[in-house]
Amino acid sequence: MTPLTSAWLSVALLFVCVVDLASSDKKLITPESGKDVTMTCAVPQGKTIRAVKWSRADLGDKYVLLYQDGQFDPANQHPSFKNRVDLQDRQMKDGDVSLILKAVTSTDDGSYKCRVLVSESASWEIMGTVNMSVSLPGQSEGVQTDMILFIVFVALAVLGALILIFCVGRCIYRRCKKTQNQVL
Ligand SMILES: *[C@@H]1O[C@H](CO)[C@@H](O)[C@H](O)[C@H]1NC(C)=O
Repeated sequence: MTPLTSAWLSVALLFVCVVDLASSDKKLITPESGKDVTMTCAVPQGKTIRAVKWSRADLGDKYVLLYQDGQFDPANQHPSFKNRVDLQDRQMKDGDVSLILKAVTSTDDGSYKCRVLVSESASWEIMGTVNMSVSLPGQSEGVQTDMILFIVFVALAVLGALILIFCVGRCIYRRCKKTQNQVL
């Protein structure tokens, strides 16, 4: 394998890595039981957010959290979320409407949806979905393998980039020398 081939291979791997990371934004989270989690959700900037609603598919018309007119509305909140939820940023700066859920247990498993009412439209818009599957403490090896894979990818990518820089450098150097020789 020539250095150039391996350089290209590494660049290809880097690409795969970036694509993999981007698609890991599919949002399945597997927090350990007892931990506080943040479910991220963002509204494109420039929109005025009138209300935010977080719900879970299996709760019917009860919601996880409803925030409107600058306050939480507990009227139809599912009892299991009382005093356990908050917005990451109540000012919703930069469109951040992420949810904080405290002390998760496996009864919190499910598919969470983030909806907003923005001033320009009169209906709820779904801004994101986060699926959660709570794991028992010490059962998060999955995350560790991901981490190891990630480190290997980054190492390969850095190696590839170095080889590429070396090759290009050598190429330029050679061409320089050739021109020099022609001049001489
Ligand atoms: C999340 O859960 C819903 C309902 O169970 C399912 O339809 C969807 O494919 C899941 N998404 C991911 C990313 O796991």
